[in-house]
Amino acid sequence: MAISIILLFLPLIFFSSFSSSTIDRLSGASSLSVHADDVLTSPDGVFSAGFFPVGDNAYCFAIWFSEPYSEGNRTIVWMANRDQPVNGRKSELALRKSGNVIITDAGRLTVWSTDTVSESSVFLYLHENGNLILQKSEGGVLWQSFDSPTDTLLPQQLLTKDMQLVSSRSQGNYSSGFYKLYFDNDNVLRLLYGGPEITVYWPDPELMSWEASRSTFNSSRIAFLDSLGYFSSSDNFTFMAADYGESVQRILKLDFDGNIRLYSRKYRMDKWTVSWQAMSQPCRIHGTCGPNSICSYVPHFGRKCSCLPGFKIRDRTDWSLGCIQEFNLTCTRNETGFLKLSNVEFYGYDYGFFPNYTFGMCENLCLQICDCKGFQFKFIKHNYRSNIPYCYPKTQLLNGQHSPNFQGDMYLKVPKTLPIQESGLDCSSTVVKQLNRTYTKHQENASLKFVVRFAMVVGSVELGVIFILWFVFIRTHRNSCAGTQNYPRITTGFRKFTLSELKKATQGFSKEIGRGAGGVVYRGMLSDHRIAAVKRLSDAYQGEAEFQAEVSTIGKLNHMNLTEMWGYCAEGKHRLLVYKYTEHGSLAEQLSSNSLGWERRFDIAVGTAKGLAYLHEECLEWVLHCDVKPQNILLDSNYQPKVSDFGLSRPLKRGSQANKGFSKIRGTRGYMAPEWVFNLPITSKVDVYSYGMVLLEMISGKCPAEEIENRRLVTWVREKMKQATEMSSWIEMIIDPKLEGKYDKGRMEILFEVALKCVAEDRDARPTMSQVVEMLLHQENDSELV
Ligand SMILES: *[C@@H]1O[C@H](CO)[C@@H](O)[C@H](O)[C@H]1NC(C)=O
Ligand SMILES: *[C@@H]1O[C@H](CO)[C@@H](O)[C@H](O)[C@H]1NC(C)=O
Ligand SMILES: *[C@@H]1O[C@H](CO)[C@@H](O)[C@H](O)[C@H]1NC(C)=O
Ligand SMILES: *[C@@H]1O[C@H](CO)[C@@H](O)[C@H](O)[C@H]1NC(C)=O
Ligand SMILES: *[C@@H]1O[C@H](CO)[C@@H](O)[C@H](O)[C@H]1NC(C)=O
Ligand SMILES: *[C@@H]1O[C@H](CO)[C@@H](O)[C@H](O)[C@H]1NC(C)=O
Ligand SMILES: *[C@@H]1O[C@H](CO)[C@@H](O)[C@H](O)[C@H]1NC(C)=O
Ligand SMILES: *[C@@H]1O[C@H](CO)[C@@H](O)[C@H](O)[C@H]1NC(C)=O
Repeated sequence: MAISIILLFLPLIFFSSFSSSTIDRLSGASSLSVHADDVLTSPDGVFSAGFFPVGDNAYCFAIWFSEPYSEGNRTIVWMANRDQPVNGRKSELALRKSGNVIITDAGRLTVWSTDTVSESSVFLYLHENGNLILQKSEGGVLWQSFDSPTDTLLPQQLLTKDMQLVSSRSQGNYSSGFYKLYFDNDNVLRLLYGGPEITVYWPDPELMSWEASRSTFNSSRIAFLDSLGYFSSSDNFTFMAADYGESVQRILKLDFDGNIRLYSRKYRMDKWTVSWQAMSQPCRIHGTCGPNSICSYVPHFGRKCSCLPGFKIRDRTDWSLGCIQEFNLTCTRNETGFLKLSNVEFYGYDYGFFPNYTFGMCENLCLQICDCKGFQFKFIKHNYRSNIPYCYPKTQLLNGQHSPNFQGDMYLKVPKTLPIQESGLDCSSTVVKQLNRTYTKHQENASLKFVVRFAMVVGSVELGVIFILWFVFIRTHRNSCAGTQNYPRITTGFRKFTLSELKKATQGFSKEIGRGAGGVVYRGMLSDHRIAAVKRLSDAYQGEAEFQAEVSTIGKLNHMNLTEMWGYCAEGKHRLLVYKYTEHGSLAEQLSSNSLGWERRFDIAVGTAKGLAYLHEECLEWVLHCDVKPQNILLDSNYQPKVSDFGLSRPLKRGSQANKGFSKIRGTRGYMAPEWVFNLPITSKVDVYSYGMVLLEMISGKCPAEEIENRRLVTWVREKMKQATEMSSWIEMIIDPKLEGKYDKGRMEILFEVALKCVAEDRDARPTMSQVVEMLLHQENDSELV
C-alpha cells in the first residue's frame, strides 16, 4: 500500500524537482517570469529561452545556447524586445488564452506581442533547431521566432524577402544597430550601413551585380544555411564553411562591427571560431568610424579610428558618431589652405569628379565651393606613359580609410592658422556606458502604434528612394573611373572541387606548366570555361581539416596583386589548389626571355610590393609568404604581377609578434634572409629581404642564387657602388645589359635605393612593405606632377 502511494506520487515528485529548470512547453494561460530558473528548454537541451539581463535591471526575452561559450557568457541567437528591455520586477512573458503571447514590463506596459489569435488551445515550445514555436493543439504553426530573426541565422532557418538581420549596437549592447543584411529590390543579398547615412558596402559597391557574380533574375529571394555549413542564396551567392561537413554547432551572425561571420564550435563548451566571413578588410565596412575620421588597420591590434587633424571625437563611447570640427572655416580664399593626408580615401559624397584636373585647378575648385570639405586627388593610369590626374571635391567626409594600397591623397580644407596637433583615440579605449533604466508608465496606446507603423512604412519608402539615388550616383561614379583597379575584388565562387572534376579539367593532368618545391602545376579548363592553373601538392602534406581551414583562409585573401584562388580539392591523400591562370607565366621566365622593358619592371616592383603589403598588413590574418622569388611572381595579360604560392605559408596568429611556429627552413637559396641561418625570430621582414633580392635581380638581370665573379649578388652590387666615382657610372655597371641602355635613370635609382634598404642584414633596418609601396609611389607621382 505504502509503496503504491509512493509510486503514485513519484511522477509528481520527479516533475516538480525538474520544473524549475526544464520547462519544455507553455500551455493554457501561463507565463515565464524574469527569473534565472524560469526558462524553456528544447527537448535535447541545446537551446534555452528566457529573460536575459542586458543591463542593470533590464531584461530581454531571448533564445540562447544552453551551454555558455565561456564562463557566464551566453550565445544569444534571438531576442524579442531588444529595443525595449523590461524591468526585473513583475515583468513576464505570458501566453494568453486568446492565443496571443505578450511581454509586459513591470506588469503593465506591453512591450512586445506575437499578435496572434486562436479559437483552439495553443502551446509554446522550443524546437531542437532553436526555433520558438507557437502551435495550435490540433497542429499548425501560428507564429515562430525563425520568421523574425534578430542578428543571427541558425542552420535550417530561412532568410526570405520580408526578413532582415540587424546587427546589435555594440559589443555589450544588444539593441538594434546600424548594419542590415537583406534582399534588395533587385533580388541581391546585401549588407547596408543605415546609420546617419545609408550606404551599401557588400557586395563591393564598385562592382555591378554580375561582376560580383550575383544574379538579379531570381525573385524568390531566399537564403539558407544548411547544417553542414553550406550557405546559398537565390542571387547565386554561395559559400562553404572552412570546416564544412563536420557535425558542429553553427551560427551565421551579423556582428555589431558590420561584418557577417559564420561561427562554429565542435564541443558545447568551446569558444566559437570563425569559419567564414564576408569582409576580409574591416576598414571597407562603411560607417565604422563615423564622419570626419579615418579607419586604419593596425597589425596585431585590428581596426583603429582616429579623428582628422583639427577635429575631436564626438562621443568617446561611440566611434560611429565620428568627430566634430574644432575650427571655423570662412569662405575667404586667402585664409584657407589644405592639409595633405597621404593614402587616405573617403568613399562617396563627391561634389562631382573632374578628370584631367591639375592639382592647382582642383584646389581652386574646392576653394570656390564654400561647403567643399576638401578634395581627393589621385592619378589614374591610362597607359604606361600617362597618368591622368583626377579631382574629387568632397561635400562630406565619410567612410574614411587609410590604406597603403590607395594610390591617392586627401587634401583637407583648413584655416591657414590651424595649429596641427594629432588627436586620435583607439576604438579599444571605449568606456562602456551604464544603462540607467527607469521605466516609464505609458498606457498601451493604439494610436501610438499606428504612428510607429506609419513611420516605418514611410521610412522604408524613403529608404527605397535614397537607394535609387545612391544607385544612380554609383553608376555615374563608376563609369567615370573605370580605370581604378586599386580595390580588392570581392571573394566570389571559392569552392571545393572534386578530384574527378579536376582530372577532367586538366585532361588527366597532362599539360604541365610549372614545377616547384610544393608540387607540379597543370593548365586546365573548368566546366564553366575558365582557364585555371591547378597545383598538385606533393603527397606529404597536412591533414584534411587543417588543410581546408588553411586554404579557406587563403581563399578569403583578395587583392589584385595576389593570384586569385578559386578553390581546392582534398580527397584521400590528394591535395590540390585551383588558381586563375596567368597568361604571361612568371617573372623568372620573362626576365630570362628579355621581354620586360624598364617601365614594366618598375610596375611589377610596385604591384608586387602592394600584394605583399596586403598580405603582411591589411588582411585580417597576417600571412608571411616566406618564398618570394621571381618564379612566384606571375604576370597576367597586362603584365600585372600576381604574387602566388603564399598558399603554403601559414597565417601568423594574431597578436604574436614573431612566429616561432616555423619548424623548418623555408625559402629558396639566394633569396633567403639571414634570420633563417642565424635562427632568429621570423617576421614579415624575411619577405622584405627576399623582395629586395628580387628587385636587385630585376635591375641587374643577375640571379641571386648564382655567384657573380665569386661573390654573392649583394656583395657584388655593393662593391660596384664603391668602385664607381659618381652616381651616374655605377648604375651603368650594374644595370641589366638586356635593357640596352633604355631606362629611366631616376626610376631605376629609386628601385635600387629601395632594394638596398630591403636587403639590410639587420631586419629592423629594413622598411615594411607598405613603406616600400609609399617610397615607390611617392616618387612616381612627384615625377609626373610637373
Ligand atoms: C565574458 O563576459 C565578461 C563580462 O561578463 C567579459 O568581460 C568577457 O570578455 C567575456 N568573455 C568573452 C570571451 O567574450
Ligand atoms: C546562377 O546559377 C544557376 C545555376 O547554378 C545558373 O544557371 C545561372 O546561370 C547563374 N546565374 C548567374 C547570373 O550567374
Ligand atoms: C531561384 O532560387 C531558388 C532558391 O535558391 C531556387 O530553388 C530556384 O530554382 C531558383 N529559380 C531559378 C529560376 O533559377
Ligand atoms: C568659432 O566661431 C564661434 C562663433 O561663431 C566662436 O564662438 C568660436 O570661438 C570660434 N572658434 C574658433 C576656434 O575660432
Ligand atoms: C584676406 O583678404 C581680405 C580682403 O580681401 C582682408 O581683409 C583680410 O585681412 C585678408 N586676410 C589675410 C589673413 O590676409
Ligand atoms: C589633359 O589636358 C591636357 C591639357 O590641359 C591635354 O593636352 C591632354 O590631352 C588632356 N588629356 C586627356 C586624356 O584628356
Ligand atoms: C544601447 O544603445 C542604445 C542606442 O544608442 C542606447 O539607447 C541604450 O541605452 C544602450 N544600452 C546600453 C545597455 O548601453
Ligand atoms: C541614473 O538614475 C538616477 C536616479 O534615477 C540618477 O540620479 C542618475 O543621475 C542617473 N544616471 C545617469 C547616468 O543618467
